Amino acid sequence: MSTTSHSEGQGSLFDRIGGAKAVRSLVEDFYALVLADPSLAHFFAHADMNKLRRMQYEMFAAALGGPVKYTGRPIVHAHHGLNIALVDYQRFVQHLFDTLAKFPLSEQDCYDIISRLNLYTNDVVSAGTGIVG
Ligand code: HEM
Repeated sequence: MSTTSHSEGQGSLFDRIGGAKAVRSLVEDFYALVLADPSLAHFFAHADMNKLRRMQYEMFAAALGGPVKYTGRPIVHAHHGLNIALVDYQRFVQHLFDTLAKFPLSEQDCYDIISRLNLYTNDVVSAGTGIVG
């Protein structure tokens, strides 16, 4: 029985997930799910998906503690005016969760990754949060 806890495993999440190659394939798989979701696909109708995948790779890799620098626009600027609601954000994260489940990660690692991205919720969501003011 493992006695590991929060700080389980060696190295960064980036290393544990399998490095650059794994993060690239994670981003591929993830956007395949997002674009196949009729409630999300329209947001990406005018997006340059190649650039988006590249930026998301950097963003994920950096967020997971990898030796990569994010060179894209600030997250708040990239999503400004897209009118993304909390429910859209939640579906997006659900697809990420489903994608992560295909990788050899512990449940704790999956939650850690999602928590890191959830730091950006307020930068991404701009519509229908149900929170007034
Ligand atoms: C934590 C959650 C999210 C993160 C970390 C994230 C990250 C990013 C990044 C790094 C970019 C590229 C920025 C650049 O071009 O310089 C981007 C662009 C974009 N994101 Fe997100 N995103 C998140 C959630 C969402 C959600 C929920 C949606 C829609 C439902 C969305 C829709 C888009 C679109 C449409 C673009 C392209 C904008 C354009 O080309 O002008 N994102 N996002």
